This record gives sequence, structure tokens and C-alpha cells, in this order.
Amino acid sequence: MVNTAVLVSGGGANLQAILDSYFFGQIPGCNLSAVISSVPDAYALTRAKNAGIRGFTVDASLFPNEASFNNAIFGKLKDLDTELVVLAGYRHELDRPTLRYFKNRIINIHPSLLPAFSEGSSYGLQVHQKVIEAGVKISGATAYFVTENDFGPIILQQAVAVDMDDTPQTLQRKVMEQAEWPILAQAVTLYCQGRLRVEGNRVRVLSE
Ligand code: GRF
Repeated sequence: MVNTAVLVSGGGANLQAILDSYFFGQIPGCNLSAVISSVPDAYALTRAKNAGIRGFTVDASLFPNEASFNNAIFGKLKDLDTELVVLAGYRHELDRPTLRYFKNRIINIHPSLLPAFSEGSSYGLQVHQKVIEAGVKISGATAYFVTENDFGPIILQQAVAVDMDDTPQTLQRKVMEQAEWPILAQAVTLYCQGRLRVEGNRVRVLSE
């Protein structure tokens, strides 16, 4: 079983996608061991509690600086004997020691088809605003391994059509429902099944 910890900071919609798959038995090989929040009252913690998954808070606001906060997160992940880390609406950058220790074991999702629209926060409406301004017809989401250069090897991508009537809000919703949630859960599943092999900057998905 792959001990998996999910890092969150907010509403936990991405976490919910994992929880739903998990409880439908769609993530075989995964032991969802903990949800760790950087914000004490994040709704993601309520989602974890409702699902019977252990929730922990490492309150970023209580630390004098980002380095000591990151150190606490790293310590917590190790204490929990974590093998796989999933970032699900986590609003902090992990530090180098954490990224090195968990090399090719940290999965994140970005709400665009990388490397397009990689600039700025992956949280909120910013990316979708830029997509609409650029006039592209296709957007989507990318699940990838986080590396020291941030965007590491791409695990999965899912495209979503951008319609003329889309607003950043409607596009965000579509991207979440049709791309982010399914591929995040699928990427975790593939990892836990031992079906992801990183070859340089590419990820080979092995057949079952
Ligand atoms: C959304 O902005 C989504 O596009 C991004 O994270 C946000 C959802 O956060 N990836 P959460 O999972 O509800 O906390």
C-alpha cells in the first residue's frame, strides 16, 4: 500500500475528487493516510473528517518564516511515513530538501495544458482569464511531478474546449470537472499501481 498524504489550504474540491475515487475503490494500492492543511479552518479538513481520513493542521501563520513552516511540513510528511505527496489546492511552494527527498513522488495539478499558461498561480481564476484573453480554443489541465524546477515530468493531460461564451468562472468549472478532478485521481491511481516510470523529462504509463 502506498502511504499517501494530501496537502491542502482551501476548499478541497481537488481533495474531494480523490476521496470520491478512493471510496469507490478506484484507487487500489493507495492508503490515504492523512490530509495536512496549512490553514486551520480550511473546508478541506471537514471533507477529510467526513470521509474518516485523519486531518492535521500545520498552521503557516504561526511560523516566523516560510523556511520553518516548510521544515514542519517536511517533518510531518516523514513522521507519517509518507511515500506519495499530493498537492490539492496547496498554496505554498515546497522547499528543496522536501522536493529532493520526495523526488518523483509529489503530484500536482495545473489548470492549463502545460507548458502553456504556466505563469502565475494555479489557484483561482487567473489562468482561465489569461486563456480567454489569448483566444485559444482549447485549455485543460496537467497532472505532473513537482521538481526543483517546479513543473516536472507530465503524467497526464486532459483537454477542454474553450467556448466563445466562457467566462473565467465557467471555464474554471469546466476545467475542474472535466479535467482536473479526473486526471488528478487517475494520476494517483497510476502511481499507486506502480504504473508510472519517469524517463528523463517524460513519464511512461505502463499498461496493467
Ligand atoms: C481551483 O482554483 C483549481 O483550479 C485549482 O485549485 C482550486 C481549487 O482549490 N487547482 P480546492 O481544491 O477547492 O482547495
